[in-house]
Amino acid sequence: MQVRFKIYRFDPDLDQEPAYRSYSVSAMPEERILDCLNRIKWEQDGTLAYRMSCAHGVCGSDGMRINGVCALACQKLVRDYADSEEIMLEPLPFFQVRKDLIVDMDDFFARVDSMRPYFIAASPPPEKEYPQSVEAHKKQEDVIRCILCACCTGACPVMRENPDYVGPAALVWAYRYLYDSRDGQTGQRLERLNEPNSVWPCVNHFECTRVCPKEIPVTKSINEMKREIKKQIPESAK
Ligand code: SF4
Ligand code: SF4
Ligand code: FES
Repeated sequence: MQVRFKIYRFDPDLDQEPAYRSYSVSAMPEERILDCLNRIKWEQDGTLAYRMSCAHGVCGSDGMRINGVCALACQKLVRDYADSEEIMLEPLPFFQVRKDLIVDMDDFFARVDSMRPYFIAASPPPEKEYPQSVEAHKKQEDVIRCILCACCTGACPVMRENPDYVGPAALVWAYRYLYDSRDGQTGQRLERLNEPNSVWPCVNHFECTRVCPKEIPVTKSINEMKREIKKQIPESAK
């Protein structure tokens, strides 16, 4: 079958403003949107720019807006858009465009980094590994699936109203280490989360949860951290 695409094109070095360009490719219903993009680039227009690597929902590099919804191009199939005359591909919202579907991820990673997304041991390292109970690990099972694709952050309406909000992906990583039973920085992590632009701007739109390709309960995790702050820092503002 022939599948029509309308793709956002913008090269800040050359173009005054963005434009949309249409393409038509032959594809099977079970092929991925990423397969179609590759075909467009390899067979029709080598100037089209987008990120991809694993093509299997692991690397998180091909997050984009597909028919208005943030998703991974390698996880969505042509048949998912069978009702659309034309499939619209745009860069992740909120992010600055570097070229076409490629966005600048530096600020996104800096936000995640601000949550200190690494294990800070409570005690000197043991002889072998740091053991963790099955129960303690269960608490992290959902959030450790995060592949940093930024779909949640692009979809969050609060990011557009308040660009200082740290965003859902950074909070997913904050959760991962807040509830690591071996981490020694719980108090400091809660203080960081209690800052005005950490958990509190989230108003439960659930967009992040809806779009997460790894089905992480993002909003639920944020709400759980809010409750934890209220419990442990009674004088917290909210
Ligand atoms: S639940 Fe919170 S983080 Fe997620 S989209 Fe809504 S406001 Fe943004
Ligand atoms: S929480 Fe989900 S949507 Fe957000 S960056 Fe991680 S994998 Fe992507
Ligand atoms: S290309 Fe790696 S997640 Fe889609």
